[in-house]
Amino acid sequence: MSSSSATITLANGVKMPVIGLGTWQSSPEEVAAAVKVAIRTGYRLIDTASVYQNEEAIGTAIKELIDEGVVKREDLFITTKAWTHEIAPGRVEGSLRAALKKLQLDYVDLYLAHMPAAFNDDMSEHINSPVEDVWRQFDAVYNAGLTKAIGVSNWNNEQIGRANAVGVTPVHNSQVELHLFFPQHDHVEYCKAHNVVVTSYATLGSPGRVHFTLPTGHMAGHPEDAFPNERK
Ligand SMILES: NC(=O)c1ccc[n+]([C@@H]2O[C@H](COP(=O)([O-])OP(=O)(O)OC[C@H]3O[C@@H](n4cnc5c(N)ncnc54)[C@H](OP(=O)(O)O)[C@@H]3O)[C@@H](O)[C@H]2O)c1
Repeated sequence: MSSSSATITLANGVKMPVIGLGTWQSSPEEVAAAVKVAIRTGYRLIDTASVYQNEEAIGTAIKELIDEGVVKREDLFITTKAWTHEIAPGRVEGSLRAALKKLQLDYVDLYLAHMPAAFNDDMSEHINSPVEDVWRQFDAVYNAGLTKAIGVSNWNNEQIGRANAVGVTPVHNSQVELHLFFPQHDHVEYCKAHNVVVTSYATLGSPGRVHFTLPTGHMAGHPEDAFPNERK
């Protein structure tokens, strides 16, 4: 078994590859080429999000590979995420259906709430939507068969505990920043104890983050002292 095909089993029995291709900040042209090379060389997990604005290109690349017989849909593991306006009350199912249309898929393998807090479309106003309510919406899309597993990203232990206390489908996966400078020991221990598989993002320290601007124009940069050489 190559490292890119090793899997870990989520609490509901779904097998998730332990290594995947991240697609944040990949333009549609770049991402199509990257996805094709990755899948041809053995990657099975592709990680995207609506806020990355590249789901359509990823969907086209995957469809081409499936049509060519390079890979079968059931052998892939596609993760996408609902951004802050998409977790507002009543919006999760429509957002996932829109993502599925772009990805040209009937289901994703993992749908994540990208952040714990809801905002309006241009992120200028916070929307009151407790994590319990967000999680009930995720349970609904899971039960509708639109995703094989559900999880959260950038949620803390307390927020995951509140979602699990709702008593519906438990949180299957937590995707968080996790690397040598930020090992998140407490979070990893908490997730182990509650049968939540942890995914590390920014595994190499995320050097690209200093240049990142959200579609709304907001900067999501590091504090001033991070990556001093990048800023010169
Ligand atoms: N859920 C979330 O909120 C969230 C947030 C961030 C990321 N993510 C996901 O996690 C993925 C990975 O995160 P990331 O891109 O922020 O962080 P990362 O994996 O830590 O950093 C990737 C960057 O590391 C550099 N790099 C890659 N291989 C290298 C090597 N062998 N030697 C030296 N540098 C190398 C590249 O920089 P250069 O391009 O400059 O060469 C690349 O852009 C994303 O694509 C996304 O799918 C999720």
